[in-house]
Amino acid sequence: MSKPNNIALIGFMGTGKSTLGKRLAEILKRAFIDMDNVIEKRTGKPIGRIFAEEGEAHFRHLERELIKELAQQRDLVIACGGGIVLNHQNVIDLSSSGLIVCISATPQEILRRVTGFDHRPLLESGDKAGKILELLKARQPLYDAIPYKIDTTGLSVEAIVNQILEKFKSHQQPRVIPPQADR
Ligand code: S3P
Repeated sequence: MSKPNNIALIGFMGTGKSTLGKRLAEILKRAFIDMDNVIEKRTGKPIGRIFAEEGEAHFRHLERELIKELAQQRDLVIACGGGIVLNHQNVIDLSSSGLIVCISATPQEILRRVTGFDHRPLLESGDKAGKILELLKARQPLYDAIPYKIDTTGLSVEAIVNQILEKFKSHQQPRVIPPQADR
């Protein structure tokens, strides 16, 4: 079987994973998987209702099961939920299924992008800005542990997508073993 070749976009809420993932999938002519959408379709409930009725732990379990399934597949572009890093086995599984890229943005940019959208239960409290800072602080070491990161500050979607594609090309290259030099 050829090399695992998925591309998984990881990063905090509002960093642009879905927009970037859709564009990448379009360019690469691949299936695009938005994890939150898949979970919502399968359960028939919006994420907010899953959190409210079954609790966050149940949502994390659904995420875990979906990651196990996706990691067995190939040719996917996956936009992961922002919290998948909370279980390090998720990151291990995704990285053995292809390239993982951590997308980041400043807290101000994240706030701007999530304002006006009410589908994220973890940001439902009145003080969205405070909650973003608190969650970012707690999760930063988990995002930092992902080797390939892109800070999206000031970059267009096309520029970010091009960076990911460049990385993906080199990721696909077979390991080069240089010949022994003649003496
Ligand atoms: C979450 C991020 C959300 C969604 C859920 C929890 C998180 O996904 O999975 O609300 O814990 O960061 P997005 O990152 O796509 O907003």
